Amino acid sequence: MLDCIIDAKPIKKPDLTVVIVGHSAAKLPKLIEAQAARMAKGNGGGPSNMITADGRYLLLKPDEKAWLVGGENWRLLGRDIADALRSGKLESALVLAHGRSANVQALVEGIALGDYRFNLCRSGKESKRSRIEVHIPGHGPAIEAGLLTSGAQNLARELADTPPNLLNPQTFAARARAELSGTGIDVRITSGANALRKAGFPGLAQVGMAGSAEPCLVEMHYKPGKKRKSKKDVRLALVGKGITFDSGGISLKPGDKMWEMKGDMSGAAAVLGAMSWIAEHEPGIPISGYLCLAENMPDRTAQRPGDIYQARNGKWIHVDNTDAEGRLVLSDVLTYAGERGATHIVDVATLTGACMVALGDRMGGLMGRGDAFLQSVRAAGQEAGEEFWQLPLYGEYRSLLDHPHADLNNIGGRFAGAITAGIFLSEFVPENTQWAHLDIAGPAIQSGGWRYYAKGMTGFATRTLIRLAQKLG
Ligand code: BES
Ligand code: MN
Ligand code: ZN
Repeated sequence: MLDCIIDAKPIKKPDLTVVIVGHSAAKLPKLIEAQAARMAKGNGGGPSNMITADGRYLLLKPDEKAWLVGGENWRLLGRDIADALRSGKLESALVLAHGRSANVQALVEGIALGDYRFNLCRSGKESKRSRIEVHIPGHGPAIEAGLLTSGAQNLARELADTPPNLLNPQTFAARARAELSGTGIDVRITSGANALRKAGFPGLAQVGMAGSAEPCLVEMHYKPGKKRKSKKDVRLALVGKGITFDSGGISLKPGDKMWEMKGDMSGAAAVLGAMSWIAEHEPGIPISGYLCLAENMPDRTAQRPGDIYQARNGKWIHVDNTDAEGRLVLSDVLTYAGERGATHIVDVATLTGACMVALGDRMGGLMGRGDAFLQSVRAAGQEAGEEFWQLPLYGEYRSLLDHPHADLNNIGGRFAGAITAGIFLSEFVPENTQWAHLDIAGPAIQSGGWRYYAKGMTGFATRTLIRLAQKLG
């Protein structure tokens, strides 16, 4: 899906020379120099992106908007470079940039994320895109870092864009195994509703038992080698919601935009993307990834509203609404991650429409336990250009999940839906574990396109998880 080469090799006669205004020391023709100087001065009003009359130079100026943090303004420039090559039907660009390697890394990410298209299901000319090449001399390590992160995110994105007839819990699991084969990461799969029940994951079985393919749990365990091992006693677990299609089940969703629920495995996709990065980077702490994979469908064998079942930690759950399935597949796995010794857990899920009502669809919701840890997760997001905003797990609202016949109801009523979902999850996280819950229902799905994301799924949170692993390791 990526028809784009980015490297640090010099090139003699590029189709396009890209000048990052204010960040490039190279000697330029006088006219270009003058134009760049004019652009550098213009604050706000002037253009931040212009192509010279002869079409040979692209002048770009990083946008200074206050909320474009964590290199986002440079990612946008990267997208501009890819767009200019594509729209001009050009093949090669030479980028003249100097300065912070973090900026160049973001630029590279912007090119690779900006040029991604999901073309697996197209024929004719759309299926065959030409190859573009971008050369950024003098920035080898930044390019490598940018390619690795954007590659992980584009993997997540490709999985999320893949239609639900082609990606089900079984094919997703197979893909996870394939992506990590030959790396130091140990992959284990528990497959099928019966096996999951026996192994103590009744939530996955309940949600997935009517799916077109059997539900499964993918565990991916990474341990640092002796040389890499850090002294910190931190063990990180990443848990992803992987509903390959969420019809709502018996509590069927309305048809409008139901197709977007092919992206309801975006959390699991981000976790797999991050694990693929971890396999390359080998951080100094043990990290386990868990993919909770199921298809939520209505059928004779589907769970019903009214079902009551006992979760791994002993609590009984009343299924009031089968469309509140994400919390059911995650809960037992949160418990299990704790049992296996995780000191820090991050779960990632397209969990609630309510989170989009609260925060809009361009930032994620952040909830959990352990203030310092939550702040470091938020900071990791900001450093990676992904914004999260904390919502409170207000104890007062716990009673919204009360039920006369069970310990917990799986929905909490009309108000504070993102929060009651978070409170539900908190009931399954072992007490002394630091825990962050990322609700990415909004930013994971961008059917209209956003920033450097073409219409479709974004792979949101992949970069946050990578940055966190990097910081903790
Ligand atoms: N996958 C959905 C949440 C969602 C909605 C994600 C829109 C992305 C975009 C989730 O499983 C769901 O259906 N949640 C319900 C919960 C409700 C039944 C308590 C919702 O948000 O309406
Ligand atoms: Mn649902
Ligand atoms: Zn869902």
